[in-house]
Amino acid sequence: MKRLTMLSAATIIATITGCSVSNDFTPVAGNSGEEIFSNACIDCHTPENGYIYDISPEKANIESISAIISKGEMVMPAFPNIQGAELTAISEFVLAKNKPVVSEDAASE
Ligand code: HEC
Repeated sequence: MKRLTMLSAATIIATITGCSVSNDFTPVAGNSGEEIFSNACIDCHTPENGYIYDISPEKANIESISAIISKGEMVMPAFPNIQGAELTAISEFVLAKNKPVVSEDAASE
């Protein structure tokens, strides 16, 4: 309950100020992307049909995803303490759980 209240407060602050809040979550060295996700991200990003993200194609790469995690993006908090191997691991996990772009051919089936 306390955690939910803090999340709402962070969201309200981000909405009012228009800039990202920072989350001080620090992963254990060597944690897998999945472990980091279930500790730090699952509260806001809920898996749906096996996929979690629906990132626009130009942002669906490791560099862009890492930048979003490090710096935040609007309501999405920044995670400055996720770095190095752990940042790569969580970025790869996000990319693996990103909904694949449906091509025109597949969509018209
Ligand atoms: C407090 C809630 C919250 C937490 C915690 C959170 N996110 Fe987010 N995240 C959001 C919201 C809301 C968005 C939607 C877009 C925006 O506001 O820019 C978002 C967007 C994103 C995006 C961009 C998606 C897109 O379509 O462009 C990525 C990637 C992402 N989050 C990854 C993560 C990862 C990885 C973690 C854990 C380390 C995490 N988020 C934790 C709320 C959260």
